[in-house]
Amino acid sequence: MRRRVIAGNWKMYKTQAETRAFFAAFAPLVAHSAHCDIVVAPPFTALAAAVDAARGTAVGIAAQNVFWEKEGAYTGELSAGMLAEAGCRYVLIGHSERRQYFGETEESVAKKTRAALAAGLTPIVCVGELLADREAGKTEEVLGRQFRGGPGSLTAEEFSRILVAYEPVWAIGTGRTATPEIAAAAHGFLRKCAAGQFSAAAASALRILYGGSVKPDNIKGLMAQDELDGALVGGASLDAKSFAAIVNF
Ligand code: 13P
Repeated sequence: MRRRVIAGNWKMYKTQAETRAFFAAFAPLVAHSAHCDIVVAPPFTALAAAVDAARGTAVGIAAQNVFWEKEGAYTGELSAGMLAEAGCRYVLIGHSERRQYFGETEESVAKKTRAALAAGLTPIVCVGELLADREAGKTEEVLGRQFRGGPGSLTAEEFSRILVAYEPVWAIGTGRTATPEIAAAAHGFLRKCAAGQFSAAAASALRILYGGSVKPDNIKGLMAQDELDGALVGGASLDAKSFAAIVNF
């Protein structure tokens, strides 16, 4: 049985003060939640506050992005080593918003993933199709391409240390969640890609999170699918009570 992961992606929300207030409310609500790994991804400026507030809890902190070089003249960027030193244990890579607005490509996803692994971080590699892809019957083609260019380009050892998040772009921030069946089918396809590229054992060990309008009232139905190994939650992770309700589904 794969251990589940419930992760919150705060995107560009929350100051340091808001981060401290969140953890003060959230930590007691998940103090006994040992059934899954819990992750919170604050913006860079709130990472130190989050690491500090999460100390002594089971909550792991994630960055939302990373650059692949160790150091250098790359104004505005942060290395995986810097994030690890700051107390991060995870990093989101290739989120659809980064692909859409910041030119993230399969190649940059692969480089960032390898850099994160080399620094001891657990990458959460995001994939997902656009509404137009799904409507054109191209979901598997897109997911296959994203898988091959990103996770599929790793070594088997590297692959064993990543998490994948399936986030259909049409379900992000829209209130339109994928049905548990649609999500499970996509996860099954990604697992098939992993089996083809690596091995059946690697595929069955891979943890795939679902993301896209996950809320306290739909988490149970989603988690009823064996294919879904957790959730990557945006909007509903900003409120301590609502994120705790998702963790404690
Ligand atoms: P929402 O939960 O707000 O739809 O966002 C999902 C997401 O993008 C998480 O990374």
